[in-house]
Amino acid sequence: MTQPTIRKPFMDVLSGQRQAVPPIWMMRQAGRYLPEYRELRAKAGGFLDLCFTPEFAAEVTLQPIRRFKFDAAIIFSDILVVPYALGRSVRFEAGEGPRLDPLDTPDKIATLAAAADGSKFAPVYEALRRVRAELDQSIALIGFCGAPWTVATYMVAGQGTPDQAPARMLAYRHPDAFARIIDTLVESSITYLTGQLAAGADVLQIFDTWAGVLPPREFERWSIEPTRRIVEGVRKKVAGARIIGFPRGAGAMLPAYVERTGVDAVSIDWAAEPTLIRDRVQNRVAVQGNLDPLVLIAGGAALDRAVDDVLANYAAGRLIFNLGHGIQPETPISHVEQMIRRVRDRQR
Ligand code: CP3
Repeated sequence: MTQPTIRKPFMDVLSGQRQAVPPIWMMRQAGRYLPEYRELRAKAGGFLDLCFTPEFAAEVTLQPIRRFKFDAAIIFSDILVVPYALGRSVRFEAGEGPRLDPLDTPDKIATLAAAADGSKFAPVYEALRRVRAELDQSIALIGFCGAPWTVATYMVAGQGTPDQAPARMLAYRHPDAFARIIDTLVESSITYLTGQLAAGADVLQIFDTWAGVLPPREFERWSIEPTRRIVEGVRKKVAGARIIGFPRGAGAMLPAYVERTGVDAVSIDWAAEPTLIRDRVQNRVAVQGNLDPLVLIAGGAALDRAVDDVLANYAAGRLIFNLGHGIQPETPISHVEQMIRRVRDRQR
């Protein structure tokens, strides 16, 4: 007997149907602003132990869903699991962010593994299966990876950098060596994303957090083109796979990004210009965003006004309500609740 299919409003938006009340989730929704996350994080030991223990990763993924009833869950992991599976050393120092062994000369790049060790992804897939089994059928499950450019900025510098100068410099001085890193990331990301779909993810997001530092020519080469290859490679294995791109800071390059990569939706940051987005982006794909994470910390009347602006700018078309970047650890939970009420309780 066929079961009645339960609708997922989130997936409906991606398929072309605007929702009167836009579906909501938040980038980095599982994280340090939640006391239940901090408690489990302390139990797990290291951050990577949390990512690679399916029971913990599944639990942390579900925490914000239980608390806020978001329309989508995002699997708890990190974009740096791909370099880890490529055999790079990846460590998270408390309060300092990620540390990797810098891959900053052509000689070092020549030693980079050709392909990821797929067994390293197995715990992430197991966590996805556990989440899917527990998650309400009306809620979408998001898998993700970092875009090659953004992941490469960490691999080259060995850490986060304010303007991604080490990777930009390497790409100018040694474009062929840099392309080897990018190509390796394209292939391993296709493998990783396809595995996430097989394990129960409904949709994928590609995080290109540092896309905005690239001049147009470099943006085409290192952000658009690798993302296009990932989208094409995933859809070759899983026809019709739904994919959201997040080229943060892309600004006026967004229409080109959307047109050339073939993504189903684009996540926009808070600085996006509404007319450009409506006329040249939202006319082609769904838009996700774009509340400033700082106004979510500020709260009060400023938060109400900012929520109303996002709705006024984009809710006439296909919108997934989100932040313009990840939620910050100091955000009060009551402000998240205020934001959700403001989006869901409006009469439209
Ligand atoms: O969105 C979610 O809730 C899912 C989990 C998720 C994490 N990282 C967990 C995490 C996702 C989607 C990411 C993506 C990620 N990781 C990005 C792209 C998106 C973005 O926010 O820009 C980037 C650039 C990274 C790399 C990374 N991971 C950095 C720079 C850091 C340190 C800075 C920080 O926020 O602490 C991390 C660690 C990290 N990844 C944490 C979490 C919850 C905090 C670690 C901890 O609990 O100690």
